[in-house]
Formats: sequence, structure tokens, C-alpha cells
Amino acid sequence: MKTTFGPQKIMFPCPTTLVVTGSMEKANIVTIAWVSLLTSKPPTLGISVGTRGFSGEEIKANKDFTVNIATVSIMTEADFCGIRSGRDLDKFAETGLTKMPSKVVRSPIIKECPLNLECKLVDWRIIGRTNHFVGEIVETHVDTNLLEDADNIGSIDIRAFDPLIYIGGVREYRRVGEKVGDPYKIGNELKKG
Ligand SMILES: Cc1cc2nc3c(=O)[nH]c(=O)nc-3n(C[C@H](O)[C@H](O)[C@H](O)COP(=O)(O)O)c2cc1C
Repeated sequence: MKTTFGPQKIMFPCPTTLVVTGSMEKANIVTIAWVSLLTSKPPTLGISVGTRGFSGEEIKANKDFTVNIATVSIMTEADFCGIRSGRDLDKFAETGLTKMPSKVVRSPIIKECPLNLECKLVDWRIIGRTNHFVGEIVETHVDTNLLEDADNIGSIDIRAFDPLIYIGGVREYRRVGEKVGDPYKIGNELKKG
């Protein structure tokens, strides 16, 4: 048996990302769980940023942003960036998170996040009370100590990375569990008949 709840905005798991926009002198951090890869060529992603917060207008003005994947070790700082506004305070100063210069865009990346995506704003629209920003990923930074093979971004050690997972609806932070299979392969084991 199932029950229904009408239209709900429940979807999980989501990564907990820290989106930065601004410059090395002055930048804001906003916690964003509604993020998705959109296309592969060119590589783009979409983020949903509420129109009532500070970050939406800042991203439109700056025309670029970085998406930094949070880890369990910075859970408190990541949550802080999602409950306080950059209108009122400097979240880098308050959290102690460290700005690092990006290679291509003006917005800095966050040192404590092991994976950082530099994005140029290429499109946006408002739906309801939310800005939908499309960012073209123009550079990718990874902590080298997490790579099992220095030349392969697909060799990131996920257990060591320990990404902070947000469970929407239930409202919990969790960590990634054990590997259970190989995508694009395991399906071949299904035999019909
Ligand atoms: C775990 C978590 C996930 C969040 N995800 C989003 C999101 O996807 N989109 C959004 O607009 N706000 C999201 N928020 C809320 C914003 O981070 C929050 O409104 C923030 O204070 C806005 O900061 P700003 O005014 O500096 O932009 C999230 C908050 C938390 C704690």
C-alpha cells in the first residue's frame, strides 16, 4: 500500500555544496543542496537559489560562482552558511573557512572542500521564488591526497573524502555508506526467462 501527499519538494540524497560568489577581497558562501549536473558537452550544472537570500543578486552581478563539495568535517560551518545571510555578516570570517583563488573565474574556491568546480554563469531564470542558475564548469580542483591514481579524477577515494549528504524532507545530514556495486555493469547480470 502507498499513501499520497500531493505535490511535495522531497528528493534525496543531495550533496551539501557551498556556493561561493565574489572576489578574493569580498565573497559570500551559501549552502545549496539543490544542485544538479545538466549537460556534459559543455559541462554545465544548475543550482536553485532562493530570490529572498543575498546570493541570488550577487551571482547575477558577479556572473560567476564556484561549487564546493562540503565534507562531514565541516558540517557545522556548512550548516551555518545555510542559516545566516551574507547580507549581515562575512561567512568566511565567521566560519574560518579559507578562500583560495580560482584559476579561471573571479569567485574564490574553499580550501577545506576537496572538490571545487569553477562556473561561469551562462543562463538563469526565475521560477516562483527561486533563481535557477546554469553554470558552465570551466575548471575543476581536487585534493591530490584523495586520488588513488593521480591522473584520473574518477579515482577519488570516497570514504576518505567523506562528503556531507543532505537528506531533504527528513532533514538529516548523513555520510556515504559502503560501495554496493558497479554502475553500468551490474545490470548486465539480469537474465530474462
Ligand atoms: C542543508 C541546507 C541546504 C540548503 N539548500 C538550499 C538550496 O538548495 N537553495 C536555496 O536557495 N537555499 C538553500 N538553503 C538555504 C540557504 O543556504 C539560506 O537561505 C542562506 O542563509 C542564504 O544565505 P545568503 O542570504 O547569504 O544567500 C539550504 C540550507 C541548508 C542548511
